[in-house]
Amino acid sequence: MKNLIFILLIFIVNLQANNYGALLFNGNCTTCHFETKTISAPSVVEFKKRYKEAFLNREDFIENMATWVQHPDAKTSIMLDAIEKHELMPELGFDEDTLKQIISYIYDTDFTKKQNINNLSIK
Ligand code: HEC
Repeated sequence: MKNLIFILLIFIVNLQANNYGALLFNGNCTTCHFETKTISAPSVVEFKKRYKEAFLNREDFIENMATWVQHPDAKTSIMLDAIEKHELMPELGFDEDTLKQIISYIYDTDFTKKQNINNLSIK
């Protein structure tokens, strides 16, 4: 019974967040990456812009970012300036499929038009 309630709860939370990628993005990436402000790591808007410049379609963007986030490495970084400024991002231990869901959400969301708690709390 407890398990069922837990599963239902997860299901509802998922529905509210609209998709799994959004949920995981907000629970994980945003602890370091604010959406529009660069503080302890480049903002999502910033790294999204850099990846869009380097990889011209959605598929390449998602593929390359997922590969990098799975194993952050200065040798394959396209943002060496960010590593110099903030140090290399730690490895988080997500599998490739999960990362692709998170990164699809990043690709499809316009963070400059969204208000959220992260942006409000550091004004
Ligand atoms: C513990 C803090 C932390 C978390 C959590 C984190 N990042 Fe990062 N990330 C950083 C820092 C610091 C940098 C800048 C230095 C670098 O590029 O390694 C960075 C850089 C990046 C870059 C630039 C890559 C490049 O070419 O250098 C991408 C893309 C990225 N993060 C995506 C993500 C995604 C997606 C998540 C969530 C799944 C995430 N990060 C979670 C700290 C974090």
